[in-house]
Amino acid sequence: MVAFPAKHLLAIEGLEPPHIADLLDLAESYALLNRSGKTQRDLLKGRTLINLFFEDSTRTRTSFELAGKRLGADVINMSVSTSSVNKGETLLDTASTLNAMQCDLLVIRHAQSGAPALLSQKVDAAVINAGDGTHEHPTQALLDALTIRRHKGRLEGLTVAICGDITHSRVARSNIHLLTTMGSRVRIVGPPTLIPADAARLGVEVFHDMKAGLKDADVVMMLRLQRERMSGGLVPSAREFFRFYGLDAEKLAVAKPDSIVMHPGPMNRGVEIDSAIADHPTRSVIGEQVEMGVACRMAVLDILARRLPRNR
Ligand code: CP
Repeated sequence: MVAFPAKHLLAIEGLEPPHIADLLDLAESYALLNRSGKTQRDLLKGRTLINLFFEDSTRTRTSFELAGKRLGADVINMSVSTSSVNKGETLLDTASTLNAMQCDLLVIRHAQSGAPALLSQKVDAAVINAGDGTHEHPTQALLDALTIRRHKGRLEGLTVAICGDITHSRVARSNIHLLTTMGSRVRIVGPPTLIPADAARLGVEVFHDMKAGLKDADVVMMLRLQRERMSGGLVPSAREFFRFYGLDAEKLAVAKPDSIVMHPGPMNRGVEIDSAIADHPTRSVIGEQVEMGVACRMAVLDILARRLPRNR
């Protein structure tokens, strides 16, 4: 195992293949441990993990809580809606307050791209980005990669089609960085209004037609329309979007017969994905993505805690 290059996990961009491979290998061992029903409660004993979510979350916040508890950390879920943020306290003052309580690991989700990076300069804790604006969602990309690797045995040489609202998706951005770094061929598929202007710089192929983009793909990753981040009418009605860009059996038929279907959640059934595909017993790996989320977050907490001083 190579030494992890940073105190914080703020982004996938900048990580080298050995760092990603090590995280995935460690996460795989936690996936097996979780399935065995065992825990490793001594690893983070005496450490404090605070979940600070300024945006809604089901999967990420719960799995960080589970991951911390399975490794023995004291876990605090700070409810922003009932905190002094509502009395006008700034993000940095909130962080300084938590820092004074000697938190070791701070997991943050924020609507502003760059908020976790800013925070990391102000606190002693290791900061983990749980999703910042349209920038990155690094642990989502790790759990997606682990899920793909478990099904395909590798990442290198695979064709992965990421479909839907790419422009507003931090999940897409982190996945593009991770998958291209690990040697996958990445296609992004969506209407021109939902493809970022800098797509060419990301090392991906761009498609505006679903069947062209899905042809012979090994992995089909669907994304939600992030209407909360859209400033205008970038898409037609949900019904029309589904007709052209929603994943159904007819469109999936052009991908490889053993291709897998992924979605980071939350899903909007009948908008970007048909229920029959989302619940498909062999093609859909959406439930496994959630399971791998706990394992990957255990691996991230483990790796970052190794770099923290013991007597904080
Ligand atoms: N995939 C994801 O980040 O889900 P949540 O918003 O529920 O955490």
